[in-house]
Parts: sequence; structure tokens; C-alpha cells
Amino acid sequence: MPISSTRELFVHELSDAMSAEQQILKMLPELQKEARHSELKQALKEHEQETKQQVKNLQAVFKQIGEQPEETTCYGVKGLADEHKALHEEQPSPEMLELANVSGAAKTEHYELVMYTGLVQMAKDLGERDAAQLLQANLDQEKAMAKRVEALSKEIGKQAKAAERETAGS
Ligand SMILES: [Fe+2]
Ligand SMILES: [Fe+2]
Repeated sequence: MPISSTRELFVHELSDAMSAEQQILKMLPELQKEARHSELKQALKEHEQETKQQVKNLQAVFKQIGEQPEETTCYGVKGLADEHKALHEEQPSPEMLELANVSGAAKTEHYELVMYTGLVQMAKDLGERDAAQLLQANLDQEKAMAKRVEALSKEIGKQAKAAERETAGS
């Protein structure tokens, strides 16, 4: 279907966000299993619950605007998932995998942050205030999670460096 209005584009972008969240919902349990740092594990676990709520919020947005989600793939998040797979092929040490995973999580949260910033703006421009509020709720969670994983990535980075020194010294 040709997209020729901001409303049609909004529906497409919303569908994309739905695909993004569903792909992320699949990735989060795997990342939790791999996480060694207890705070990272906990953050990922809590974000899985938040992500389930985000999917519900997106469903509510579709209902609010009287549209159905389109079948689409968010290639941005698919790319991030592919990067995670590609890293595994490089046989990383547990410490390096942990560092790669936490920085991958930061990349994903920032992708989502920009995605929702755009969606909130589109909803406002279209006069969809309730939809904008629901999208803002998702945006706030992504912002908080981005901060959390960024702080953790600094700590995990130091641990990875320490592990590296230990290996070099042994
Ligand atoms: Fe999300
Ligand atoms: Fe997220």
C-alpha cells in the first residue's frame, strides 16, 4: 500500500515499533541467561516485564487510533540481533561477551529511544493526544533503561579490563 500521508506513515512506524518490541522480547531471556553481573541480569529481567507492557501500550495505541498493525519487520532491531549472533561466532571470552552484551543493550535502548521520540512527535502532530501519552510512557522506560545499562557498561568494562590483565599476568 503506498504511503502518502503522515497518518499512514505513523501506522507504518507504529507497526515497525511493534516488530521491534516483539524481537526484543525474544532477545531479553537469552541475554538474561548470558548475564553474569547480577544487576545486569536484574535490569534485563525487569525490562522484559516493561517490554510486555510496552507491547500492550502499542496495542492500545492502535485501538485508540482505530487501526490494525501491519505485518512488517523492524530491520533496525533485526540488525542489532544479528550483531549479537555475529559476536557469538567470534567465540568471545565470558567477560568480553558480557561487555559486548551490555553495550549491545545500550545500542538497542538508544534505538528505541529515538524510535519513540519520533512516534510521540508524530502522534502529537496528528492530534492523537492519548496515543502520544501511551507512547511517552514507553519512551520514559527506554530512557531509564538506557541510563541503567550505560552505568552498568562502565562497571562491566572495568571488570573486563581487570580480567584481561589477569589473563595476561598468568
Ligand atoms: Fe522497548
Ligand atoms: Fe527497551
